[in-house]
Amino acid sequence: MKDIQITNLIKKEERRQRDTLMMIPSENYASKDVLKALGTVLSNKYSEGYSGARYYQGNKFIDQIETLAIERAKKLFGVPHVNVQPYSGSPANSAIYFALLKPGDKIMGLMLRPGGHLTHGHPDVTFSGKYFTPVQYDVDINGIIDMESVAKLAKKEKPQIIVVGTTAYPRVFDWKKWRIIADSVGAYLLADISHIAGLIAGGVHPSPVPYADIVMTTTHKTLRGPRGAMILVTDVGLKKDPEMGKKIDRGVFPGLQGGPHDHQTASIAITLYEALSPNFKKYAAQIVANAHVLSKELMSKGLTLTTGGTDNHLMVIDLRPLGLYGNIVAEALEMAGIVTNRNSVPHDENPPFYPSGIRLGTPAVTSRGMKEGEMKRIAGWIVEVIDEVKEYRFKKDKEERKVMLKNFRTEIKRNKRIKEIEKEVKILCSKFPTP
Ligand SMILES: Cc1ncc(COP(=O)(O)O)c(C=O)c1O
Repeated sequence: MKDIQITNLIKKEERRQRDTLMMIPSENYASKDVLKALGTVLSNKYSEGYSGARYYQGNKFIDQIETLAIERAKKLFGVPHVNVQPYSGSPANSAIYFALLKPGDKIMGLMLRPGGHLTHGHPDVTFSGKYFTPVQYDVDINGIIDMESVAKLAKKEKPQIIVVGTTAYPRVFDWKKWRIIADSVGAYLLADISHIAGLIAGGVHPSPVPYADIVMTTTHKTLRGPRGAMILVTDVGLKKDPEMGKKIDRGVFPGLQGGPHDHQTASIAITLYEALSPNFKKYAAQIVANAHVLSKELMSKGLTLTTGGTDNHLMVIDLRPLGLYGNIVAEALEMAGIVTNRNSVPHDENPPFYPSGIRLGTPAVTSRGMKEGEMKRIAGWIVEVIDEVKEYRFKKDKEERKVMLKNFRTEIKRNKRIKEIEKEVKILCSKFPTP
C-alpha cells in the first residue's frame, strides 16, 4: 500500500491482536477467507434491490452470491426466510421495528445495565427509545431475568414487540416461556441472538427458531464473520403474517438502507459455509467449556461473577465487593495484555461511564485454539492484576476521581508484576497463532 501511515497503523493493530488476549466477548477473529472477501472488487458494485430485482445493471454474479448467503443461513438456522443485507446489528433492529411497528408503539426490552442493548428501547437517547415507547424489564437481585415480573409487566404495558437478547447476560434463555408471554399480549417476539448465534449454530444453546417470530443476529461475534447482520423470519412468524418476510425485506430496503455491501454479503456467505462444517460444532462447544473453566477459576480465587457464573461464552466480574470499578481494572488488564471491557452490573449505582464490572468472554481465544489449561492461566493473571490495583477505590467526587485516575495511569506503567504478566501473556499468545 502506498499510504504508509495507514499501512503502519494496520500493522500495529495486527500485532496488538496477535500479542494480546482478545477477551471482549463480542469480538472474534474471522478466518482469512472471511477477511479476504472483504477486500475484493465486490466493494465496487451497487446492487440496490434484491436478487433478480435490482435497480442497477451488472448484478448477475452478485445475485448468485446473495442467494448463496441466504440459502446457507436458511440451512444453518432452519428458517424459511432470511435477509442478509443489514449493514450491522443496530440497523437490522431498526429495520425490524420500521417493518412491523408504527411510531410510538411499545418496544419491551431488557434495561441497559443488566445487559440490554441500546436498540432494545433504551429511553431518551436512542432511535428505539425516542421514536417508540420503551418498556424496560430488569433482572432480580441475583442478576437473573425474573419471568414472572416480565409477564406482569407485559400484561400491564401490552407492548407490540418483546425483544429478548442481551450483551452481558451469562445465562440461557427459555424461549418457550418468552413465547407464552408474547402470546398473552399479542406481541411479536424478536430474538436478538447477536451474542449467541455461534453457540446456537453449534448446538450448545437452545435455538429460538421454534418460538420467535423474527430472529436477528450480528455476524461478527460468536459466528466469526465480518461485521454485518441477518434477519431471519421463522415459520412461526410467517404463520402469524404470511407477508412478514416481504415486510422485513422492504423494511431493510428501501425502508432504512440503500445499496447492500456486496463484499460483506460474500464474506457472510463464507462465514455460513464455515459455520455449517462439523468443526464449527466443536468450536462452539469449546467456547462454552472454556468459559465454564474460566468462570470457575475466577470464583474459586475469590472474585464475584454476576448470576454466580455462566452458561454461555461470557461472564461479568462484579467489582463492588472489592470496592473497585471497571475503568481501573480494564486499563490495568490491558497493560497486562488482557483486553476486556468495563461494563455495568445489575443494579449498578455507578454511572455507565464508570461502571462496576468487567465483561469478558472466550470466543476469540478459543478461535486461537486455547483450551481449559490456558483458561486457568488466564484466570490466575486476571486475579493477580486485580490484586495489584486493589488500592484504587472508586471516588464519587469528580475532581478526586480525575486526580486518582491520573496517578493510577502513571503508577501502573511502572508496576513490575503487570509488566511481567504482559511478557507471559505474549509468550502464551505466540504459541496460539491468530487465525
Ligand atoms: C444483542 C445485540 N444486539 C445488537 C447489537 C448491535 O450490533 P452492531 O454493533 O453491529 O450495530 C449488539 C452489538 O453489540 C448486540 O450485542
